Amino acid sequence: MVEKVWEIGEPHFEADQKCPMYRSWPWNGHRRFAYDLIRFVKPERIVELGTYWGTSFFAFCQAVKDFNLATECVAIDTWEGDEHTGKYDSEAFETFCQIKKQLFSNINIRPLKMRFDDALNHIDDGSVDLLHIDGCHEYDAIKKDFESWLPKLTKNAIVLFHDVADDVDYGSVRYWKEVSTNLLYLVFQHSWGLGVLFPNDRMYYDQISADNFNDKMKIYEYHSELDLAWLQVSDYEEVVKKRDKLIDDQQRLMLEKDKILERKERQIEVGKRESDKQKKLVERLSAELETEKTRRLQIESSFLFRVGAAFSRALNPK
Ligand SMILES: C[S@@+](CC[C@H](N)C(=O)[O-])C[C@H]1O[C@@H](n2cnc3c(N)ncnc32)[C@H](O)[C@@H]1O
Repeated sequence: MVEKVWEIGEPHFEADQKCPMYRSWPWNGHRRFAYDLIRFVKPERIVELGTYWGTSFFAFCQAVKDFNLATECVAIDTWEGDEHTGKYDSEAFETFCQIKKQLFSNINIRPLKMRFDDALNHIDDGSVDLLHIDGCHEYDAIKKDFESWLPKLTKNAIVLFHDVADDVDYGSVRYWKEVSTNLLYLVFQHSWGLGVLFPNDRMYYDQISADNFNDKMKIYEYHSELDLAWLQVSDYEEVVKKRDKLIDDQQRLMLEKDKILERKERQIEVGKRESDKQKKLVERLSAELETEKTRRLQIESSFLFRVGAAFSRALNPK
C-alpha cells in the first residue's frame, strides 16, 4: 500500500485580490492547513456552516481548483448575520457571488442562502466528507449545529470547528472541550483556534498524525504569525509610500507657493514704482495748478486795477 504523504504547500489565495481583508480575518491563520488538508483528503463534498465573506470557504475552493478535484463545495449561510457578527447588509453575499463567478467558475460551488436547519433537506445523509462549523459561537448553537449535521457525515468524515482556542471567550470553547473528550482530534490554538475532529473513524487521524504531525502543526502556527507579520510589513510599506507622497506633494506645494510669492513681490514692486510715478505726476500737476492760480490772481488784480483806474479817470476828467 502506498503511504499517503502530507505535503505542506505554498498556496496562492487568489480571492485575496478581490477581498484583501481575508488576509487579516480571524480564519486567515488556518487557510494553509485547510488547503493541505483538502489536498490530502480529496473530499467529494465539503459543507461549510457559516461562510460570511468567504475567508475559509475560498481557501477550500483554492485547493479544489489547484488540484483539479471534483469536490462539491457547499456554502451555507443566511448572509444576514448572527449574535456575534451582528446583522449585516448584502455586501458580503455580493462579494461572495462575484468571487465565485470570477475566480472559481470552473469548480462545483453550491451556495445555500438559508438557515442551517433548512439546508439539512438539501444534503443527503452520509454524504459530507468535510464539515466546517463556523456559525454562531454560543454553546447551544454550536451543539445543535454539530448534532443536527452528524447524520450527514461519511464514515471517514472530518469536522472542523473554529473559535475553540483556550483563551477565546465563547461557548464554542466549552462545547469543543466536551465533544472532543471521547473522540480523536487535533487542535490549533492560534487564530482563535481550530479543532479538527474525527468523529466516526480513525483512518485519517492515523494517516495525518503519523510522520510527526505535531511538528507540522507548529509550522502552520509559525506560518500564520509570519503571514500576519508580512501583512503588517506591507501595511507599513503602504503607510511609508503614502507619507512619501504627502511629503512630495507638500514640497511641490511649497515650491508653487514660493513662485506665487515671488510673482506677487514682483507685482508689488511694479505697483510701487507705478504709484511713485503717479505721486510725482500729482505733485507736478498740483504745483502747476498753484502757479496757474497765482498767475490768474495776478491777472485778475491787474485787470481790476485797470478797471478802477478807468473809472476814476471817467469820474474825474481833467
Ligand atoms: C463567524 S461567521 C463565518 C466566518 C467565516 N467562516 C470566515 O471564514 O470568515 C458566522 C456566519 O454564520 C452565519 N450563521 C450563524 N448562524 C446561522 C444559522 N443558524 N443559519 C445560517 N447562517 C448562520 C452568520 O450569518 C455569519 O455569516
